[in-house]
Amino acid sequence: MKKILVIGSTGQIGSELTMELRKRYGSDNVVAGYIPGAEPKGELRDSGPSELADVTRPDELSVAIKKHGIDTVYNLAALLSVVAESKPLLAWKIGIDGLLNILELAREHHCAVFTPSSIGSFGISTPHWMTPQDTVQRPRTMYGVTKVTTELLSDYYHTKYGVDTRSVRFPGIISNVTPPGGGTTDYAVDIYYYAVRGEDFVCPIKEGTLMDMMYMPDALNAAITLMEADPAKLVHRNSFNIASMSFGPEEIYNEIRKHKPDFKMTYAVDPLKQSIAESWPDRMDDSCARDEWGWRPTYDLASMTVDMLDKLSARLLK
Ligand code: SER
Repeated sequence: MKKILVIGSTGQIGSELTMELRKRYGSDNVVAGYIPGAEPKGELRDSGPSELADVTRPDELSVAIKKHGIDTVYNLAALLSVVAESKPLLAWKIGIDGLLNILELAREHHCAVFTPSSIGSFGISTPHWMTPQDTVQRPRTMYGVTKVTTELLSDYYHTKYGVDTRSVRFPGIISNVTPPGGGTTDYAVDIYYYAVRGEDFVCPIKEGTLMDMMYMPDALNAAITLMEADPAKLVHRNSFNIASMSFGPEEIYNEIRKHKPDFKMTYAVDPLKQSIAESWPDRMDDSCARDEWGWRPTYDLASMTVDMLDKLSARLLK
């Protein structure tokens, strides 16, 4: 049985990934790692063990790994793209100094490590349509720089030391539990909250700007399926393109309007977010993930929209 540590367990992905891992592997086998000020609450706190696990404090991580006999680490500590532009040194400290601490401990304690990369690892010189698995990665954001470095360091620790590192390039993740904070793709989450509350939405991204997006259940499934995959079949490791849907603001707006015909959206383009969005792929080619470990998404824009509106309505309109 696996013994898993989720670092960043109270964040957008971590809060749902921890619960999903507990369902699959047993609650006692999944430790919710957190930093002071972001302690687990409610079901996340009550359903299993938790430990302080700050990536910038290797001694603390070492205690958590030894105490629980951890053999698998999901490392979700990161600043998202927009906030990383305002705190680039902190983004590097968490994303890369933190990753090195984890990789060194993984080498010592024989842990497998999942650290996500992102559509943000690509840049303006990357082919934007059906972005290949192996292509130009010259991002100009600190978020992107840390993600490319994450991919390289993770592959380095695999080839040099045999650490079982694996990763996917997440699209913008859409979820209805924990909101994202400070990303370029956040608008595609926010828009559902406005629609459900019956408020007008002001979109910071220009009409026609395509970005890859994914519904949380597919994102969780991708991470867990990759970590379960037969290593003999993996040609790539860090990191796999995964895709399920790609749309511009007008498409998500029109999809929501099928259910909420009075919903209104206007545009007030944020120049930083727009320039980041334009540097990212319009749509990634995920055929390597499909071939090497059987990646298959289940949600498209229409089915995600139904589920987002249902879940948020049940929660916000109680
Ligand atoms: N959702 C991230 C961001 O917008 C991209 O991976 O920063």
